[in-house]
Amino acid sequence: ISLQPYNTFGLDANARYFAPFETIDELTTLLNYKLPATTPRLILGGGSNILLTRDFDGLVLKNEVGGIEVVKEDEEYVYVKVGAGINWHEFVLYCIGRNYAGVENLSLIPGNCGASPMQNIGAYGIEIKDVFHELEAFHIGDLVVKNFSLEECEFGYRESVFKRQYKGQFVITSVTYRLRKHPVFNTSYGAINQELERMGVKELSIQAISQAVINIRTSKLPDWREVGNAGSFFKNPQVPNAKYDELKQAFPTIIGYPQGNGTKLAAGWLIEQCGWKGYRKGDAGCYPKQALVLVNYGKATGGEVYALSEEILQSVKEKFGVLLEREVNVI
Ligand code: FAD
Ligand code: EPU
Repeated sequence: ISLQPYNTFGLDANARYFAPFETIDELTTLLNYKLPATTPRLILGGGSNILLTRDFDGLVLKNEVGGIEVVKEDEEYVYVKVGAGINWHEFVLYCIGRNYAGVENLSLIPGNCGASPMQNIGAYGIEIKDVFHELEAFHIGDLVVKNFSLEECEFGYRESVFKRQYKGQFVITSVTYRLRKHPVFNTSYGAINQELERMGVKELSIQAISQAVINIRTSKLPDWREVGNAGSFFKNPQVPNAKYDELKQAFPTIIGYPQGNGTKLAAGWLIEQCGWKGYRKGDAGCYPKQALVLVNYGKATGGEVYALSEEILQSVKEKFGVLLEREVNVI
């Protein structure tokens, strides 16, 4: 079947087998289904962080596990267990509607809750690790359920244990988030304050922050329903401070923020400086309003988008001596 409706890049690649599941029982049945052991499997959520470079000669398992339920609460926190197949922004709206605070800065991120821990989704000063309590995952080989605590997920910037040593081994079936009953606002990301001011907000609220984030995002990120994309294509690279000082001398307007014991550079700036912003070759391109986002204007193939990303990566390496790393999962 064509996977075009199942990836936000809108790439037309086929899967040999495709099956949705809503429960662990259904998943077990599918995993026991008589396919050669070598048949590759791909767990799919909303398809908003993948680049399909060719047909997938295996089984795509579309995670549609549902349910949202409060499992515990105390004075300060409420713990909400969410099925992996629930859309992320739907969950954000659920929280905002009930005054559960913590995910308002992460408004409008595409995709499903089950994928949120995969790369520790983040935006506007918050990462999923800040509201994460635990998750439930199913081991594909052993067919057993395992719970993962915050520490066990080994979250980092756009990283988790599920992208590293456990890659391809677990299906995340639910995530339990810990939300605050009394909000602690995070407006550390400069653009939020500017937008709140522009909106004329006098009193901070999670509703106002969510709206500010939505306004900023819709002003610079393409709507994938109109122009195919998967958000930032590369990660923002971290360099040692000495390297940053050297770059700053040569390129005084370079954008960098202190991060751990180094400096995180704005990859969008690096790519823009190499002249790629607004570039288009066939239907593959670099988005005119945000150079970190690669787009499919219609009929591009995953191979063409990948080739463009390789050219960008090489030119940034040549000009700045900085190696970009892809954020999108290349399939
Ligand atoms: P998919 O694309 O379906 O899957 C992503 C990866 O996780 C794949 O490798 C898949 O095999 C694996 N996977 C998915 N679900 C499961 C599961 N249940 N168990 C095991 N493995 C699984 N990301 C950010 O962090 N911050 C942003 O601000 C942001 N903005 C974006 C803006 C746009 C316009 C778009 C299109 C994307 C953006 N993203 C952002 C990226 C994307 O939204 C996130 O990575 C999201 O969490 C992906 O969810 P998904 O369900 O679509 O995952
Ligand atoms: N910039 C440029 N040119 C560009 C794009 C950006 O100079 O073409 C500059 C901006 O002016 C700004 C800086 O780069 O000074 C940072 O830009 P922006 O605020 O747009 O954020 P980003 O670093 O490009 C990251 C995340 C986004 C997340 C936003 C907000 C990564 C890889 N990307 O983007 O996440 O929404 O910050 O927190 O960390 C995603 O992961 O898919 C994603 C969209």
